[in-house]
Amino acid sequence: MSNFVNQITFITGAGSGIGRATALAFAKAGAHVVVAEVNEECGRETVTQIQQLGYEALFVGCDVADPAQIEAAVRQTIGAYGQLNIAINNAGIGGKYGRFIDQTKEDFDQIMAVNVGGVFYGMQAQIRQMLTQPEGGRIVNLSSIAGVRGMPMGAPYSASKHAVIGLTKTAALEYVRQNIRINAVCPVYTHSTMVDELINTAPGMEERMRRMIPIGRFGQPEEIAQAILWLCADENTFYTGQSLQLDGGLTAG
Ligand SMILES: NC(=O)c1ccc[n+]([C@@H]2O[C@H](COP(=O)([O-])OP(=O)(O)OC[C@H]3O[C@@H](n4cnc5c(N)ncnc54)[C@H](O)[C@@H]3O)[C@@H](O)[C@H]2O)c1
Repeated sequence: MSNFVNQITFITGAGSGIGRATALAFAKAGAHVVVAEVNEECGRETVTQIQQLGYEALFVGCDVADPAQIEAAVRQTIGAYGQLNIAINNAGIGGKYGRFIDQTKEDFDQIMAVNVGGVFYGMQAQIRQMLTQPEGGRIVNLSSIAGVRGMPMGAPYSASKHAVIGLTKTAALEYVRQNIRINAVCPVYTHSTMVDELINTAPGMEERMRRMIPIGRFGQPEEIAQAILWLCADENTFYTGQSLQLDGGLTAG
């Protein structure tokens, strides 16, 4: 696989789980990683981990639910490095585990603001910059298996992740001739803070979740990170507008 030496790589929600694993993987491959996080402590911890490995990283505080903040974070990245080669719109929240009819407007609006607004306004700022670069750029958005299947007890989350695929496909088609490749990944349950919270909602939950997955285990954040790197690789020139399912065989059945 190609290396990512000096590639400016902006990752939202890189303070934990899949985002942190992706930040570490890009840094090890030579990228300059920008950690855009609402949680300053865990975002700075990712930067420290990258620096301890001898690589470069920058922390940028950012709540992706606020269009002005995500735009400012992208601008800060360009101000620091002069370009933006890769953007990973990863920040997301799971919302409340509960019946469709019990989900509230407050929960719905919050999940849409973070999971959909963060990707939409993030991509607007990222694409504007990539359009100024002859080499274009690459974007990967975090959808989910809940973005291609229904998710009982998670209606707003599932809706938000379906929307991420719509944004991904549409932007990919609009900018395919400008050398900007845009894809999504759709992981099944993967070890992270978000999944730990879900596991803790009820006794026996972890086992029930595991039984759904043909391979018999949850994903590891590093496995998702490697797929994201592949999507952004220079050699990967013909793959755009797609949703890569990383699900231990779930949707094969
Ligand atoms: N873990 C899974 O099983 C799984 C499966 C499918 C999709 N995903 C998606 O992967 C992405 C990463 O999830 P994870 O499992 O690593 O979760 P996580 O909770 O471990 O990490 C999410 C990170 O995003 C940050 N974040 C949350 N809201 C933010 C905001 N408004 N602005 C900026 N940062 C914010 C958090 O502080 C956290 O560091 C999410 O979009 C999630 O929906 C996760």
